[in-house]
Amino acid sequence: MTYDPIRGAENLIRGDLAGIEPYEPIVPLETLSERSGVPVEKLIKLDGNENPYGCSPRVRRALADYSFYHIYPDPLHSELQEPLEGYVGVGQKHIVVGSGSDELIDLVLRVFLEPGDKVINCVPTFGMYPFSTAVCGGKTVTVPRDDAYEVDVAAVKSAIDERTKVIFIASPNNPTGNATLPNVILELVDTGVVVVVDEAYYEFSGRTFAPLVPAYPNLIVLRSFSKWAGLGGLRAGYGILPFNIAELVRRIKMPYNVNIAAMIAVRESLADIDYLRDRVKAIIAERERLSAMLKEQGVLLPLPSEANFILCRVARGDAREIKQGLDKKGIFIRYFDTPLLRNMLRISVGKPEHTDALVEALAKLEGG
Ligand SMILES: Cc1ncc(COP(=O)(O)O)c(C=O)c1O
Repeated sequence: MTYDPIRGAENLIRGDLAGIEPYEPIVPLETLSERSGVPVEKLIKLDGNENPYGCSPRVRRALADYSFYHIYPDPLHSELQEPLEGYVGVGQKHIVVGSGSDELIDLVLRVFLEPGDKVINCVPTFGMYPFSTAVCGGKTVTVPRDDAYEVDVAAVKSAIDERTKVIFIASPNNPTGNATLPNVILELVDTGVVVVVDEAYYEFSGRTFAPLVPAYPNLIVLRSFSKWAGLGGLRAGYGILPFNIAELVRRIKMPYNVNIAAMIAVRESLADIDYLRDRVKAIIAERERLSAMLKEQGVLLPLPSEANFILCRVARGDAREIKQGLDKKGIFIRYFDTPLLRNMLRISVGKPEHTDALVEALAKLEGG
């Protein structure tokens, strides 16, 4: 390979990265505010599955009081290990913390993928799995879920070949909201391929596979502090992994992957668990109220959800027009128009006043 002064380093770039699709990023609050003409503090942001109550007040206080931001953080995040062990109920040698569960998705793939290895992705699901697979040099094998958005176990099993290393299952799944049953996960674990159960929304469903991790060499569970603990902007997540894989992930990760603010936030969140659990209960109650109100109104058809969002079909009207109409009122929801999510909308659960404003806005849009 020779250096070409015109093209610079372009001809040295990894060939497989040329056509990589970027991950669809969120739109910042300020941009949403500019687009809608609604001030930031009045925006109703129901498009990112964030926690409308924010983080625990203990997190804010501890961050304001901390004096050692100039010192590097502990690479082994030792002070979090014991509280996490208590929270998860699995020995700390199985637990690794990352900069959001996004980082754990990447780290797990780095451990297993060699160029051309395959990763099974049960669509529709979270977009980071194919993105990180491509960045790590792997190939995504897409296996559609069935009509009820359940994992098609037979299709997954027949998609496995000698290059298949990892299967991702989000449970509850984003954006469909349904959880995967234990017999499905165990049947997939039986194939010997690494099964990553992404439990970013675990706290809203109460169902977990974490206690099974120590018993299986190829089962990994990922969790997040972004949703239930309201730490999306601080980036904190963790993996529960077979201990030999956890050990390897600790060795290959960036030493300071979890910054000091995220570490303090995780520590304080776990110390304020009753407060956060009350907020989770409020979100679950609001999910059910939102679903009932939408059903009664009849514009949208909400699907059942075990997460902090609801996927909706559109009974009357067009999803794109509804989304655009709500945008103008400063209410932001997620719009989909892919073959498996045709004319659909995903609404994150907000506070009761957000639900009321949404339902009222939908009624006004219909009335013209
Ligand atoms: C299924 C799923 N996994 C992981 C994540 C990423 O979470 P984190 O903020 O911890 O990186 C999300 C975020 O939307 C998600 O929906």
